[in-house]
Amino acid sequence: MATESQEFYGRWARLYDLIARRTPGIARLRRRAAAACRLESGDTVVEMGCGTGANLPFLREQVGPEGTVIGIDFTRPVLERARAATADYDNVHVLQGDAMQPPLAADAPGEIDAVLATFVVGMLVGPADAVDDWCDLVGPEGTVVLANAAPSREWYAPPVNAVFRAIVVLSTPPTIQLRYEDDPARRLEQKIDAAHTRLRERAVAVADETHLFGVVRLTGGQLGRPA
Ligand SMILES: C[S@@+](CC[C@H](N)C(=O)[O-])C[C@H]1O[C@@H](n2cnc3c(N)ncnc32)[C@H](O)[C@@H]1O
Repeated sequence: MATESQEFYGRWARLYDLIARRTPGIARLRRRAAAACRLESGDTVVEMGCGTGANLPFLREQVGPEGTVIGIDFTRPVLERARAATADYDNVHVLQGDAMQPPLAADAPGEIDAVLATFVVGMLVGPADAVDDWCDLVGPEGTVVLANAAPSREWYAPPVNAVFRAIVVLSTPPTIQLRYEDDPARRLEQKIDAAHTRLRERAVAVADETHLFGVVRLTGGQLGRPA
C-alpha cells in the first residue's frame, strides 16, 4: 500500500501540485486549516503527509519568521516540489519520512505546538492510531487538525457525491479497476470517520466545520494537560 501510494504520488506530483494549489476554494480551505492550528508567533508546527507543500506557506504565515514549520512526506518527488516552493524560507523544513513514525528528535514531544494533516489519514493503515500518536506528539494544550474529503451530507449531496466518487476512484492507487473488493469511497469514509472520531475523543475542545459543498470535513482538537 505504501509503495503503491509513493509510486502514484511520485508519478503524478506535478498534476497533484496543480490541483492542490488551483482547485477553486482550496486556498481558502488551507488558510482556514492553518488558522485552526491556533498557532502563535514562534511556535513549531508539523504537517504530516505535506505532499507538494501547498499548506506550508499558510503555516509559515501563522508562526512567523521566529517559528518553525516541518513538513513530512514519504514520497520523494512531491517533497522536491515542496522544498523548491519553500526555498525562500529558512524556517520551513521538509523531511522524507513516514507520518506514522515521523523522523523527529526523541525529545520532540512537548516541543511541537500543532500537527496538521490534510487529505492524508484516508491513506494510512491505522488512521485512529496515527491520530493518537500525533496527539501524544503535541505538547499540553497543543492542537491537532485534520481535513479530509468524504461524501457530502448536505441536502444537495447526490450530484456532488457522484463527482466525488469518480475523483476517489481515479485517484485511488492503482487507479481504475474493473471490480473493487471494497468500494473505495466507502473505505475512505470509514478511515476518515475513525480518525476524526479519535481526535474528538482525545481533545478537550473541538471545532468541526465543513467546506467545499460539504465534501471537506475539518476537525480541530485542542489537547488538555494530563490530570
Ligand atoms: C492526497 S496527498 C495530500 C498532500 C497534502 N497534505 C495536501 O493537502 O495537498 C497525500 C500525501 O500523503 C503522503 N502520504 C501518504 N501516506 C503517508 C505516510 N504514511 N507517511 C508520509 N506521507 C504519506 C503521500 O505521499 C501524499 O503526498
